[in-house]
Amino acid sequence: MNTPFSHLFAAAAFACACLPAAHAEGDAAAGKLLYAARCAACHSLQFNGVGPTHKNLIGRRAGTAAGYDYSAALKQATVVWDPSSLLRWLADPETFIPGQRMSISIPDAQQRADIVAYLQLVAGPQAPTPAPLEK
Ligand code: HEC
Repeated sequence: MNTPFSHLFAAAAFACACLPAAHAEGDAAAGKLLYAARCAACHSLQFNGVGPTHKNLIGRRAGTAAGYDYSAALKQATVVWDPSSLLRWLADPETFIPGQRMSISIPDAQQRADIVAYLQLVAGPQAPTPAPLEK
């Protein structure tokens, strides 16, 4: 086909292929619900449970919540918890820190981003500020 339109079709197809994949922006309100559903069985923002407390998690070195009995892998890890290390951990804890004991992962990138956005609000040095999530 050699009509004037064939070039247009080619250009349109090219443009579509070049659109960047939607970047996962975290939604803290969605993350709050995901945290309740996927994390709270083992973790709390106040105390150690099956998993270590997430109080002041952001900026904390891995394996250092007082009073929690970590795996050797987490105790020896040099990771500091920030948004990028948390995203990697949640995608696949065992690949990120082999020998660790957390048995779940969050395969969905958007859900990971949402959970980390929530943790940044409630588990950072400036926490607690639950008010913005209540509306
Ligand atoms: C089935 C229980 C369980 C669930 C559910 C769970 N975790 Fe964990 N988590 C653990 C355990 C156990 C550890 C400690 C691992 C170790 O010592 O190797 C841990 C460790 C962690 C750590 C490292 C903390 C530190 O002090 O170094 C982070 C961060 C974490 N979990 C985040 C999450 C998030 C976010 C969720 C929800 C998406 C979640 N976990 C769901 C059991 C769980």
